[in-house]
Amino acid sequence: EGALSRLQVLAAHFGTAEASENHPGGIKRHPTLAGAEEPSHQQASVNTPYKARTGITSRREYERLYRQSVEDPAGFWAHVAEGYDWKQKWDTEHMRSNLDLDRGRVSIEWFAGGRTNICHNCLDRHVEGGRGGQACFLWEGNEPGQDAVMTYKQTLDAVCQLSNWLKSVGVKKGDRVALYMPLICELPIAMLACARIGAVHSVIFAGFSAEALAQRVQDCQCRVVITASGGIRGKKTIPLKQIVDDGLKLAEKAGFKAEVCLVFEHPAVPRQKCPWQAARDVWWREAMARQASHCPVEWVGAEDPLFLLYTSGSTGKPKGVLHTTGGYMVMAGCTTKYIFDLQPDDVYWCTADCGWITGHTYLTYGPLLNGAQVVLYEGVPNYPSPGRVWQIVEKYKVRQLYTAPTLIRSLEAHDAHFVTDSDRSSLRILGTVGEPINPRAWDWFNKVVGEGRCPIVDTWWQTETGAAMLTPLPGAWPLRPGCATLPFFGVQPVLLDEKGKEVQGAGEGILCLKAAWPGALRTIYGDHKRFESTYFSTFKGYYFTGDGCRRDEEGYYTITGRVDDVINVSGHRVGTAEVESALQSHDTCAEAAVVGFDHPIKGQGIYAYVVLADGTSASPEVKKALVATVRSQIGAFAAPDSIHFAPGGLPKTRSGKIMRRVLRKIATKEEDQLGDTSTLADPGVVPKLLETRGK
Ligand code: PRX
Repeated sequence: EGALSRLQVLAAHFGTAEASENHPGGIKRHPTLAGAEEPSHQQASVNTPYKARTGITSRREYERLYRQSVEDPAGFWAHVAEGYDWKQKWDTEHMRSNLDLDRGRVSIEWFAGGRTNICHNCLDRHVEGGRGGQACFLWEGNEPGQDAVMTYKQTLDAVCQLSNWLKSVGVKKGDRVALYMPLICELPIAMLACARIGAVHSVIFAGFSAEALAQRVQDCQCRVVITASGGIRGKKTIPLKQIVDDGLKLAEKAGFKAEVCLVFEHPAVPRQKCPWQAARDVWWREAMARQASHCPVEWVGAEDPLFLLYTSGSTGKPKGVLHTTGGYMVMAGCTTKYIFDLQPDDVYWCTADCGWITGHTYLTYGPLLNGAQVVLYEGVPNYPSPGRVWQIVEKYKVRQLYTAPTLIRSLEAHDAHFVTDSDRSSLRILGTVGEPINPRAWDWFNKVVGEGRCPIVDTWWQTETGAAMLTPLPGAWPLRPGCATLPFFGVQPVLLDEKGKEVQGAGEGILCLKAAWPGALRTIYGDHKRFESTYFSTFKGYYFTGDGCRRDEEGYYTITGRVDDVINVSGHRVGTAEVESALQSHDTCAEAAVVGFDHPIKGQGIYAYVVLADGTSASPEVKKALVATVRSQIGAFAAPDSIHFAPGGLPKTRSGKIMRRVLRKIATKEEDQLGDTSTLADPGVVPKLLETRGK
């Protein structure tokens, strides 16, 4: 194939025309949920007809482009990038990366020399193209009947006002701004307002506790915190401003002081009831009233930071994953377009919160880059009834619905009429992310929700990857329940055995990624060494994902779950070390070890072994106090489901290392598979743990 025809193929697919529109300790398998289910690799293929408007309608077509994307990544992504506005073009040699520690510092650069702005590409570009009157956000409140629409022009005006306010309080390019907000339009608006002026946003999920907030604001040394008086989810009011005040007080004790706190008044907590520090706090409405709705864009370098997002690893405190502007933008836009077949005007709903990476890439940036109408829902999926999600689908005529297996399982547990009572004929594509989806839930999503006519895109990726890495493209090839199928363009997955040798053909191994992709994290904020050692030292030259994976004869990839000490609870990443350190901070706890176990709704639950301090006896009150400690130090979502007091201590090797494999087997009641326990310093610990289980 000649260079010309290659370029033509690329141009046809990615042209500008549419601008208007430490660990490998053995491979752990994710426990099969609901016991009797067949594992996903034994499932039959499902062929759901769908004709993608992107033009990629067959595996052959995909493979042609995929080959180009890995043979000439710089050229491939440059073509994609041309679909966006740039103030200044990138250098000809714009992709400069080194993933191999033996060759020096790990570094990743895309579109080097280029200047752009993601806010401009999400908003101004569409408004300038005559689409300012189109809906940008379709906001649905907690209570049915509470809603609001914001057009692209209105969103741009609101973003400019906030950008102007940020500048008025001295926020400059590169400064960090922390956001701790409910899922109201002002949250993505605040993200975009930071991006517009080159400030770096750090969204802290509003389910995190005051202590978790304190840790994050301190680490990123933000100048400003943006929050709301409160939020409401289901029947629960959340006093967000109170939590921020508590968090900032804790941070102050540790020597960090935020300069300004901007507070949006949410009806859930009226201003009279909101704690206030006049010297620091400012009401959103009053502040915006004084700001002009025009604010010039700061054209930033492609490698200037866009945002920080804290995530959990297998050890230590949360890591501030840093994403930069150009590569992230290009990949967010491109993956959203191809995976969801997203076109301007489509009504698209992603149920994630902006507090997680999915809410960054696939609720905010990706859909807005494509000019879509984005549904934002503030409440919980089962309020006031388990039919709410489907009522929202009917109300807005949602075309693409992207959600998490945990939500699917929780709604599947109810009578099917909750689904079928609502008209779902608008739905064309369904998506899942965040954790392995068990075949039964997949089947329900496919048959009951999608009536067998909507392809399900099971997208595998991570906070660190920035965008989806393994994913079906709708209609292009047969699907299989629980299987993420094939790599996205430019993504080169490899399976490594424990010695670091690449597994060829069908087989199983540790999933790593070879070669850099544009949306990759660039560093861990303030700790490049940790970045290198976490992701690039396990296997030299490869990005280590932490996930186990299987590849079959068709080349399909199926994720088998984490191989490290990270637990995935309802699709939320929880580090066992963080939960352990929270438990250990309580007076009653001498030692703690945390493992994951099979949970019918959450995917994985948290099982904590606790050795009590001398003089403390086991009691339900102590259990409660320990759970409360985790809630207050991390957040409710990380609260252990089970606490198991271990009077005889924890199983340790002679060198003092906790044998987690044994703890996992005891928690999942698989003691017949304990394996070799002869290397334990005290093998007598095991029968004691079995005796005390469930007590
Ligand atoms: O274990 C994988 C699981 O979620 C982890 C990444 O978590 P986080 O950074 O919070 O990002 C979640 C949203 C992108 C992965 O290492 N995971 C994510 N998607 C899938 C998945 N496991 C199986 N199948 C998926 N589709």
